[in-house]
Amino acid sequence: MIIAPSLLAGNHAAFGRDAVRVSKSGADWLHLDIMDGHFVPNISFGPQVVKAIRPLSKLFFDVHLMCAKPEVLLEPFAEAGADEMIVHVELGEQVSHLILKIKNLGKKVGLAVNPLTEISLVQPHLDKIDLLLVMTVNPGFGGQEFIHETLPKIQQAEAWRLEKKLKYRISVDGGINNQTAAECARVGADTFVAGTSLFGQRSLKVAINKMRKIVNACDPALADLKV
Ligand code: DX5
Ligand code: ZN
Repeated sequence: MIIAPSLLAGNHAAFGRDAVRVSKSGADWLHLDIMDGHFVPNISFGPQVVKAIRPLSKLFFDVHLMCAKPEVLLEPFAEAGADEMIVHVELGEQVSHLILKIKNLGKKVGLAVNPLTEISLVQPHLDKIDLLLVMTVNPGFGGQEFIHETLPKIQQAEAWRLEKKLKYRISVDGGINNQTAAECARVGADTFVAGTSLFGQRSLKVAINKMRKIVNACDPALADLKV
């Protein structure tokens, strides 16, 4: 299982400090949300921020590109130190080319699908990706509520993975807390992106440890207990 805190929920005046904090917390990856003000109605940060925090952390950098034209950003993010780049299936015809380009840059490749997008659109790409990101909120902002209607998509992604004997990770992103992470784990998710629920805790280490135990047990009921 992978737990990937999202820096978007960190202190935007101190990204470096928060990247170090995440590195010391027992997290597996650092999730970096890139928003361009076109694909989503918000702007976050770019390759220069990623480059600046790269020397501060040995964690795997999971770069989520919520961008209308990721093509021009792939090289800059690869050079900045991304380990994986995730593009959105909503970009349509560009997707196959983007996947190939990310691979040719020597990076892991992820494909994301929004809550309102048919899961069937990802199917032609499944044998070429390392990770499928099922968005569990509409992308653009942290701190939104988990959309339960996305659970069947995770289930479908897991069914295809078994059926086609593929190895892509199934990641969930948006509104993930101990309760919703366990619900997603039950239907096949293995990678958990969480911003608000983790950064909101006094100790990131304790919060991550607890999420790991609850997800391992796949039991949402444990979220209310002290574990
Ligand atoms: C949403 C981003 C998420 C976001 C999750 O557009 O893709 O990664 O940071 O934040 P929370 O966990 O607060 O929903
Ligand atoms: Zn994200």
